[in-house]
Amino acid sequence: MSIKSFNPNRIRNKFPILNKKINNNQLVYFDNAATTQKPIQVIESINKYYSEYNANIHRGIHTLAEKATQEYEKTRKTVSKFINSRSEKEVIFTRGTTEGINLIASSFVKNFIKKGDEIIISEMEHHSNIVPWQMICEENEIILKTINVFENGEIDLDNFKELISNKTKFLSIVHTSNTLGTVNPIKEMIEICKKNNIITMIDGAQASAHSKIDVQDLNCDFFVLSAHKMYGPTGVGIVYGKEEILEKMPPYMGGGEMIKDVNFKKTTYNELPYKFEAGTPNIGDVIGFNEALSFINNIGLDNISLYEKELKNYASNSFNEIEGINIIGNSKNKIGIFSFTVDKIHYYDLGLLLDSKGIAIRTGHHCTQPLMDKFNLEGTARVSLAIYNTKNEIDYFVEKLKQLIN
Ligand code: ALA
Repeated sequence: MSIKSFNPNRIRNKFPILNKKINNNQLVYFDNAATTQKPIQVIESINKYYSEYNANIHRGIHTLAEKATQEYEKTRKTVSKFINSRSEKEVIFTRGTTEGINLIASSFVKNFIKKGDEIIISEMEHHSNIVPWQMICEENEIILKTINVFENGEIDLDNFKELISNKTKFLSIVHTSNTLGTVNPIKEMIEICKKNNIITMIDGAQASAHSKIDVQDLNCDFFVLSAHKMYGPTGVGIVYGKEEILEKMPPYMGGGEMIKDVNFKKTTYNELPYKFEAGTPNIGDVIGFNEALSFINNIGLDNISLYEKELKNYASNSFNEIEGINIIGNSKNKIGIFSFTVDKIHYYDLGLLLDSKGIAIRTGHHCTQPLMDKFNLEGTARVSLAIYNTKNEIDYFVEKLKQLIN
């Protein structure tokens, strides 16, 4: 499919929820940074797993267990290809980005970063990329430093370079900000880290459904993402880690599945990636994730990026014409995420009033309270776009917002 033949309505038809009426109006779903909607093929694949081959994986020899194992492992292969990891062993299933970051903090940082060393994050991080580092830093007397973010929502690269010292051992940085839409120059930042022997972790939650991720090209040590922000089910995510690093790391959780042999003298652990997947995983949703990736692959990430860029520019031009709206963050490289405030209308009221017109947006601090403090805000309203959104929906939103302002 080329961008010329790209038809958002054909895509919309695959999402049953998009036909829904909300408060007697056609649903306009603009809360995609919180979670995307799911295409029918994802919903049906989960249904099929539970109705046709529900069984536990990796430990049964009966037909159902083999089929479930095969389908589960198929997703790992697809993910590996999707992010271009060298090996499927480098793909660990988690419950989502938050669990992924906690896994890396508990298993890598706790064991390989020492008292007095330094970790760098940025001021635009989501709480899930702040709090785990605060916890581990407090416990292990590690120093946490934060990179300045400019008024326009871009990261201050000079400040980043200034923060690096011979004690800096780890950088954890968001690829694309959930609040500002800023796409960070992560490749450049990773290169700087490599020259300084700093391990890198990229929070790709808001990036992976919108642009091609190639972990080998990026040369990051860790990359985390969530399926539910990529048209897949909730409760599934991955940690990508370089094999040589994952090999050295101890397990994150103990239990079944992650062991080779258990006895009371000494337990030995399973090989990668199973060493990090204790207990029965979220089998049905991992299987559903495979369909979400097929959905993305069928359209093509190049087409997705092009269409979403067109949509973002259209939204940006339309929003700029609304009197009384203040857009927070206008970095040169950004995706279709618009945080804004409106003069004299509280963001919470705005959310409720737009909901009465069928429009779903996010309001609040978006789990980025330090960033809100930085901009002297308590919260904002946020529109976040996805592949099934249209210019007509943006026009409808602008019309309703103007009515509310007037
Ligand atoms: N991180 C999600 C958001 O930005 C929940 O809305």
